[in-house]
Amino acid sequence: MPDEFPFQSQTPDALMLFGFWYRALPAGQLHRGRLAKTLLLEQPLVIGRDRQGQAFALRDACPHRGMPLSCGQFDGEQIECSYHGWRFDAHSGQCQLIPSIVPDQNLKVDRIYAGSYPCQERDDFIWVYIPDPGPAGAGFSKPASAPVPAPEISKFSEQYKLAYLTADLPCSVDHGIIGLMDPAHGPFVHQAWWWRTQQSIHEKRKNFEPIPYGFRMSAHTPSSNSAPYKLLRLCADADSITTTIDFVLPNLRSEVIRAGKYWFSSLTTVTPITRNQCRIDVVAAWNLFRWIPFGPELLKFVFAKFVEQDRRTMELQSEGLKHNPHLMLIDDADRPAKWYFALKSAMLEVKKNGGEFRHPMTGPVTLKWRS
Ligand code: FES
Ligand SMILES: [Fe+2]
Repeated sequence: MPDEFPFQSQTPDALMLFGFWYRALPAGQLHRGRLAKTLLLEQPLVIGRDRQGQAFALRDACPHRGMPLSCGQFDGEQIECSYHGWRFDAHSGQCQLIPSIVPDQNLKVDRIYAGSYPCQERDDFIWVYIPDPGPAGAGFSKPASAPVPAPEISKFSEQYKLAYLTADLPCSVDHGIIGLMDPAHGPFVHQAWWWRTQQSIHEKRKNFEPIPYGFRMSAHTPSSNSAPYKLLRLCADADSITTTIDFVLPNLRSEVIRAGKYWFSSLTTVTPITRNQCRIDVVAAWNLFRWIPFGPELLKFVFAKFVEQDRRTMELQSEGLKHNPHLMLIDDADRPAKWYFALKSAMLEVKKNGGEFRHPMTGPVTLKWRS
């Protein structure tokens, strides 16, 4: 693959991968009997929670004349459009009533559907499955189910704590994702006296291996200048600490740190909202620090700092990107970014022409960089 990656030649529709689960919003923001509006992959959605507490997602446009259903009335079971009062089942999207119809008009109301999307609640988030787009101009019919369940954070004990952080990033999902897997920005973006300084920069060597639809930074002892490592050393033997980081299409980065019976696990996603806007959601679970009085708060504070540093960086970067500069990816530090682009084009190729997914990596690789 060339060092200079042609970001600019990616067509706008190629920037988003359909046919996957995406995080929509924190579950705690969705109340029973209430509706929330959101946008995922440029699809307007209305998300709600029925009387029983079950979440659902519909396209936020009435199939009659396009009024956002989020403007309608919701009784905990059906949504009534605010324009002509058509009523839809919240889960299936099936039309239940068209008030203007008189008895001798035999329009088949139950054949009309507001688009409905598979929706699941996992680890304090509402996930929505965004299917591959149907034929242009076709309306919605019966909802299809998702081929796989929504992703979940790996957990290694019954008892654990869970926390999340979320931030809007003013850049395309590609820049959001490669920013997440880029090891070289650490010493420059994430400086803090309690974390690390630019002077702590040193050569690192990490082994990577292909996994289905992604790659793994093989289990290793975390770098000695990282904060989780410093915290973990307080509760476990330094040599027993291992960390594994996976990236899997379309946007999942999971990290598992294990130290004896203690563990820390996170699942970070970068979700495309529009072609030049995305959102990062970090959800972490752990059974550590239960004995440290402010453990969870401390952890959240550290993570919030990081996410904010990344967000601010991408905000500044977006200024530079406005004018479509020529960009490059260099070895070895940007190799994960190259893999990401290659995985993504392999997936787009399968979606376009069918056939088998061709993984861009053929075997394990060792990368070296200074950070
Ligand atoms: S636009 Fe919704 S009922 Fe007419
Ligand atoms: Fe970062």
